[in-house]
Amino acid sequence: MKRPAILFGLTFLLSSAAVAQPGFDQLALTPPMGWNSWNTFRLKIDEKLVRETADLFVSKGLKAAGYEYVVIDDGWQIDRDLNGTIIANPEKFPSGIKALADYIHAQGLKFGIYSDAGTMTCGKFPGSLGHEYQDARTYASWGVDYLKYDWCYTGNQSAPDSYALMKAALVKAGRPIVFSICEWGLSKPWEWAPRVGNLWRTTFDIRPCWECGQKVIVNGEQVENHLGFTKILDRQVGLESYAGPGHWNDPDMLEVGNGEMTHDENVAHFSLWCILAAPLMLGNDIRTMSDDVLAIVTNRELIAVNQDPLGRQGRKVRDDGDFEVWSRELHDGTRAVLLFNRSEKPAEIRFTWSEVGLPLNLKFQVRDLWAKQDQGTFAGSYAASVQPHGVVVVKVF
Ligand code: GAL
Repeated sequence: MKRPAILFGLTFLLSSAAVAQPGFDQLALTPPMGWNSWNTFRLKIDEKLVRETADLFVSKGLKAAGYEYVVIDDGWQIDRDLNGTIIANPEKFPSGIKALADYIHAQGLKFGIYSDAGTMTCGKFPGSLGHEYQDARTYASWGVDYLKYDWCYTGNQSAPDSYALMKAALVKAGRPIVFSICEWGLSKPWEWAPRVGNLWRTTFDIRPCWECGQKVIVNGEQVENHLGFTKILDRQVGLESYAGPGHWNDPDMLEVGNGEMTHDENVAHFSLWCILAAPLMLGNDIRTMSDDVLAIVTNRELIAVNQDPLGRQGRKVRDDGDFEVWSRELHDGTRAVLLFNRSEKPAEIRFTWSEVGLPLNLKFQVRDLWAKQDQGTFAGSYAASVQPHGVVVVKVF
């Protein structure tokens, strides 16, 4: 009489083991940091570029600052073989993807790759539809640590179902792989993606500019694409509570050092992504980056804010038109506060303790995280002069 119960118990144990593969719950406990080829190189990628980038991660101190994932975006694939196995373009990657992953691992870094939930990627290379389990096994056998999974050519597929299918395939393949969901925020992924992936894009693609944007038609609706970083920022308001350790809103990869962004705009973009607990995926050419850009993206005090273990996304606590105050709670109860000046002139911006959730009657110390200087102890409020299109970021403790 007891046998069926034991059998039932065993079946239950085996099936739940398939869901809870070891290591998956330890992924991306803080926002992933790394580099992705897309923002600068588009489809023109090859193994030489990726190897050089990995070398420079080490020699330029990016690895020491916390950057870890080297990710190739669209354009690495070419076709499937007769068994349906995905093939890398042999002209771009003559040594194969496994050799590239091995090279990156030998530098103490991690390796990421890109595919798409539909029939084709956005660059019209083979997508993973119908090959999810096969592709996941291939990635695991190559030593892939991170998968960005796009949403082109998906017809009337359901986004939650398509991403859950690939997640199940990754789990089944058994290698813990960070799962980066890229369906551009269309189906409110923040509502379902925290259970499926480690990060999810909240908007269409970023562009290296302050405020640009371009109207396009998607599913018969007019939407804005090619967004400057301030437009992306505005679309993050209200999504704060969906983020936390292991699951992050992704306002898209960094454009620091790209296009015509000024020094102050680069500083503002990087700082805001740190306050947002956004993944810090560099999108510039690491081989030619200026010392100024390197100094921005390796500011340890800002990175510590981004990587704070509490994992609470910061929020806008005041909006006076051109002048904004953003605040992020840190694990020890202190606050990172960002003053943002969108205007064309320098401006003094003040915030009070109560606006950032601290008691008004106490004195707090303030440290400026870009000046890297303690400013002293203040009662009730703090004010700073902020450059046009610039930020001041302070820690209040
Ligand atoms: C877009 C995606 C970009 C990039 C590109 C590749 O859909 O948002 O980040 O991956 O596809 O074709």
